[in-house]
Amino acid sequence: MKPSRLLVFFPLLFLAVAASSPPPPPPHPSPRCKAWLVQSIPTDMPHLPRVPGVLSTGDVLRWLAGNATKSLDVIAQYWQFLAQPDNPKSGDYGFSAEDMEMFGAGEGRAVYKSLEDAADRKHSGFAPDFDQESADLAAGRPNVKNVTLLLGDWWGSGIVHAKVWISDGKDMYIGSANNDWKSLTQVKEVGIYLVDCPSIAKWIETYFGNLWTLSSLNSTAYTRTVWDKQWQVKRKVPCWSHFVHEKLRCRSPLPSSVVVHHVDGYPALADPFMLHIPIETPGSNLSSTSRHSSYLSFAPPELSFRRFQADEQGWVDTIKSVRFGGTVRISTMDWLGQSQYLRQIVFWPSLSSAVSEVIFSKRATVNILVAYWSHFLDGTDEYLKSILYSNILCHSSRRNNCKGRVNIKYYIVPGYEKTGAAKSNNNATGNLYPGFTRVNHGKYAVSDLRAHIGTSNLIWDYFYTTAGVSFGTYNPAIVAQLQEIFDADWNSPYAVTVEPLHTSA
Ligand SMILES: *[C@@H]1O[C@H](CO)[C@@H](O)[C@H](O)[C@H]1NC(C)=O
Ligand SMILES: *[C@@H]1O[C@H](CO)[C@@H](O)[C@H](O)[C@H]1NC(C)=O
Ligand SMILES: *[C@@H]1O[C@H](CO)[C@@H](O)[C@H](O)[C@H]1NC(C)=O
Ligand SMILES: *[C@@H]1O[C@H](CO)[C@@H](O)[C@H](O)[C@H]1NC(C)=O
Ligand SMILES: *[C@@H]1O[C@H](CO)[C@@H](O)[C@H](O)[C@H]1NC(C)=O
Repeated sequence: MKPSRLLVFFPLLFLAVAASSPPPPPPHPSPRCKAWLVQSIPTDMPHLPRVPGVLSTGDVLRWLAGNATKSLDVIAQYWQFLAQPDNPKSGDYGFSAEDMEMFGAGEGRAVYKSLEDAADRKHSGFAPDFDQESADLAAGRPNVKNVTLLLGDWWGSGIVHAKVWISDGKDMYIGSANNDWKSLTQVKEVGIYLVDCPSIAKWIETYFGNLWTLSSLNSTAYTRTVWDKQWQVKRKVPCWSHFVHEKLRCRSPLPSSVVVHHVDGYPALADPFMLHIPIETPGSNLSSTSRHSSYLSFAPPELSFRRFQADEQGWVDTIKSVRFGGTVRISTMDWLGQSQYLRQIVFWPSLSSAVSEVIFSKRATVNILVAYWSHFLDGTDEYLKSILYSNILCHSSRRNNCKGRVNIKYYIVPGYEKTGAAKSNNNATGNLYPGFTRVNHGKYAVSDLRAHIGTSNLIWDYFYTTAGVSFGTYNPAIVAQLQEIFDADWNSPYAVTVEPLHTSA
């Protein structure tokens, strides 16, 4: 029996689990790679139309565990599949058993059970509820290994924020859903389920291996504090980072990525690595067997390898992929044009600049959906209004003949203002839902040509100090269905227009 591994990443807590080493030999002839879009839709959203052919996150996670016979590798931020209504420290505290069933907590139990079964069966990896669940899964099972990786030791701050499951080196989930019961029935999530795709899985396993390697290295010996010329801050990075001057860089213990001489940091690649494999889409009527380019992107850039693009480029290029006169749709929980966790503040116009560029030059329409919820970040509204100001700039002179436009809406899941533990010190709080629920947590962008499904929030730190993975594709069936998912949200009564800055004429 091959050992499987479990990675637990802190500050904020992540957990990754890796499984057994040698990937299974591909069966002959290899079955075709297939993809389905996956959603979680919170309970009590009767006015949100369902998009046919889209799977549910709870089913997909149960199947990934259920189908694993050799390995299950999980990269997770934290673990909480089992609800904790009896734990006073939990946002689930104080709700009754009936409440929990109404909230859908049974879905989380079912996923946890399928993980336990997989762990009993063979080699599996995973991590626990704040991390108790992963420790419990590892306890007494020599085939399950767990490790802790502190990203803060390597980048000064940051966490493992990727949400990825890989089963038997061929089936995968990549998306916004955490290993949390709430991500199945109380938080709105979007991801992709890939089946029989070993040629995609092997690259994600490489990334997983990079996290694993990091956890076994002495970060003190392998980090430098440098002046980052691109972002104009002093910060800690791994010594092989391209933010370290070429002459002072160490040899990377990881598979290396493209070195471009005479540039600071990681510039956008003109020809990022693309996977040219046909992908069937049984969940869509548009399914085709032609080859379309797909790609993976990774954050932070020091953990990427070969010619894989950094995650920021994956987002920017998706926005810029829009056709002349076409539409870009972006859905995110957070949006800030700056950093969130660094001591020195980084100003980060990368995405808002791409949005303005396509409004001007391509006359594109850009629709952006941002979550409004009980942990809504200060500054969001100001940054969104600054993007809306592009409409005024675009129309500022007649010679622009402006036809492009950005529209922004807040996505408000009903009940968000009544979330948190039901009891505090034995007093009823009046909350109607557990803490950290009732929010749109998906992170994706889709133009008329290309779909990008990520795990990162749209804030500087997620691209430069935080572990994240995205899958993107030009497959027209996936592009069209992701647009449908967006439009169902955008046109629902839960989306409310963000007002522009009112300027005096
Ligand atoms: C495919 O088309 C049929 C007939 O128009 C429709 O009923 C069905 O919902 C469609 N399925 C998907 C996944 O769009
Ligand atoms: C394996 O995955 C398929 C879908 O990809 C699902 O229908 C099936 O139920 C899964 N098997 C198990 C044992 O979970
Ligand atoms: C791994 O699991 C074991 C067994 O439950 C536990 O004792 C240990 O604390 C866990 N370590 C990490 C890093 O989660
Ligand atoms: C880690 O590296 C530092 C600096 O090279 C060294 O002082 C320290 O002893 C190392 N720690 C371990 C556990 O090897
Ligand atoms: C609970 O409620 C009582 C009565 O309203 C109040 O006196 C007490 O301070 C509350 N306890 C806490 C911890 O809020």
